[in-house]
Amino acid sequence: MPETKEHLADRLLAKIRTRPNHSFKIEVMAKSFKTEIASIIEALSLLADWGYKIKSDAKSITFIEPPDLYLSDEVRYKLKTKLIAKEVLAYQSVQSTNTIAQVLAASGAKDGTLIVSEYQKKGRGRLGRKWYSSANLGLYCSIILKPKINPSVAPGISLIAALAMVETIKSYTEEDVRIKWPNDVLINGRKVCGILTEMLGEFNRTHFVVVGVGVNINHRRQDIPDEIKKTASSIRLASGRKIKRVKFLQEFLVKFENEYILFKNNGLDKSRKRIIKYSTLIGHRINLKIGSKTISGNVLDIDDKGQLVVETGGKRAVFSAGEVTLS
Ligand code: BTN
Repeated sequence: MPETKEHLADRLLAKIRTRPNHSFKIEVMAKSFKTEIASIIEALSLLADWGYKIKSDAKSITFIEPPDLYLSDEVRYKLKTKLIAKEVLAYQSVQSTNTIAQVLAASGAKDGTLIVSEYQKKGRGRLGRKWYSSANLGLYCSIILKPKINPSVAPGISLIAALAMVETIKSYTEEDVRIKWPNDVLINGRKVCGILTEMLGEFNRTHFVVVGVGVNINHRRQDIPDEIKKTASSIRLASGRKIKRVKFLQEFLVKFENEYILFKNNGLDKSRKRIIKYSTLIGHRINLKIGSKTISGNVLDIDDKGQLVVETGGKRAVFSAGEVTLS
């Protein structure tokens, strides 16, 4: 069977990206790939369509840089994880990566599978809210996990995802990056990341967990919808520079995997101190809305299950979910 142009393009890319800015002779490449010069030119044009920056003239080609797009090969390129994102499904546009992840998880997708999209038409947030997913500016992804854990401890996964996100963002900015329990990440009090963890389980067995992560990365002020302008920000706004999104995703995935391995072995033992250190709420007076009920109290702690410990009405109470506002 003759080689497809996509396959030749992949082989060519693998070769030229080993030496960025080096000039490869087209004739030599054609010989070593046992193909025609015309096929190399065709493969080059395909790589340009995919967004790769490659300089070429009649005789030579030079690899400049990959596109900053969530192509599955780019996300996987030199990614140092052992479980997370071994399988990557990358889309241009979807309704919601969490919805896709749920369907795939229920039909046998592997533990660690990553679904990522440049755009979501119906990005979902917690409590039935919408997640604004501007095309090509943010990160909208979902990770399928199949841990052997009791469903009661699964909410801890949101917190370790938030922790991994805080630690990823901290390497991009000196500003104040914090976790707002249970699953938001704020920079200087403005939200840049939301986490939507959904799961399927029985009373003592978890079938799967989907960790959906939305991050405002390269949004400028004008890219943030008016409804959330006062409360949202982006990493670009905080750091004053445009961020390489694929690199950012890879850094997050490595950090998340480390936290996830610790979590599977020790619950929140190894992460709780850092979660508390980065938390906005400890020591503050809050209102916590749980369904139609709102309680007020002082936040004392986050316990070993990731629950918020609040002193309310002279008593100590723990909460595993809810919407918090500072009072
Ligand atoms: C929240 O802040 O309420 C959670 C927002 C979670 C948004 C992410 S974007 C990727 C994934 N797919 C979705 O539809 N939602 C999550």
